[in-house]
Amino acid sequence: MKPRELITRKLLQAIIVTSFSISSTSALTLDWSSVKGKEVTLFYPGQASWEWLLTESDHRGADKFKQGKNCIECHKLEESDMGSKILTGQKLEPDPIPGKSGSIKVIIKTAHDGEKFYIRFEWKETPQGDQPIMDKDFDTRITIMFDDGHVVEAKRAGCWGTCHDDAKGMASAPKGKEINKYLARSRTKIGRSGGGENYKPQAELDQLLNEGIFMEFWQAGLNQGAEPVAVDGYILDKWHKNDNPLVDVRAEFDGDKWTVTMSRKLSASDPHRKNITPGQTYPVGFALHDNHTNHRYHHVSFEHTFALDQGEADFIAVKK
Ligand code: HEC
Repeated sequence: MKPRELITRKLLQAIIVTSFSISSTSALTLDWSSVKGKEVTLFYPGQASWEWLLTESDHRGADKFKQGKNCIECHKLEESDMGSKILTGQKLEPDPIPGKSGSIKVIIKTAHDGEKFYIRFEWKETPQGDQPIMDKDFDTRITIMFDDGHVVEAKRAGCWGTCHDDAKGMASAPKGKEINKYLARSRTKIGRSGGGENYKPQAELDQLLNEGIFMEFWQAGLNQGAEPVAVDGYILDKWHKNDNPLVDVRAEFDGDKWTVTMSRKLSASDPHRKNITPGQTYPVGFALHDNHTNHRYHHVSFEHTFALDQGEADFIAVKK
């Protein structure tokens, strides 16, 4: 690219980024500077599936986990060491990506304004280098997955309860079939290699959904200089994307730093979404697909929690 073209492109990108900032009305009128952020280390999990985690001969924490000890109680502050170990292929990753980082630190803030819940992420992008382009649509995707007290795995282990050994890219993934995320309760039988296609009948799945047995997710698809793309949905028997996302996403890329805000109305407008109400603790997990990665090649968190106004949670969303 000629220097002048480069300058024009940079200028154009700057204008686009600025105009997004201006259009980010409600998310930006919140005074984030007075909200204390928490740093969460997302790490590279490789093929560490729910079934792997529950098998003591594979994972030395399995028995204690089953007896009631949660992931973070054993692994707090170990995220970056675990990520490097897995990323370099010492464990759980048969296909290491050279140049990838084992962990990424993200500053997370939450707030609400009486009408909407907001969650904001800030992190530094790592250069693409020679890493392969897997996801052609997005440079980066950031996702949250949460529950409102109905899914026991969510409370114990965040997103890990949806990550099974037969999902795409995982150790027991079947050839010629694509299985994605699901909850064990959507299956009639589940073994060391996952629950496969042992789906419960649709009427039973509908019943579970009505009882609130599902995880809700929000996702932002990001490319520098382009408008972010919002996706939301739920996970029970598989990953269901809602036709009309209600989550609103705002994103800015400045130098090497992303700032992304997701928000949606506190009240759920249909049974595929969760109400966000005071007095309830919400287990939540975070995932970041950076550098054009997809499927398992992401960075994830252990289990965290949020609550509105007050309570015992990692993130207390106060009213702004
Ligand atoms: C009772 C403590 C305990 C609990 C609870 C526990 N783990 Fe572990 N975990 C371990 C031990 C011990 C190892 C092996 C560490 C080693 O070999 O250096 C391990 C290894 C791992 C590894 C492989 C990386 C590594 O450092 O070896 C992952 C990934 C992992 N655990 C994730 C989890 C997740 C997710 C949960 C919750 C579902 C969990 N663990 C719960 C103790 C625990």
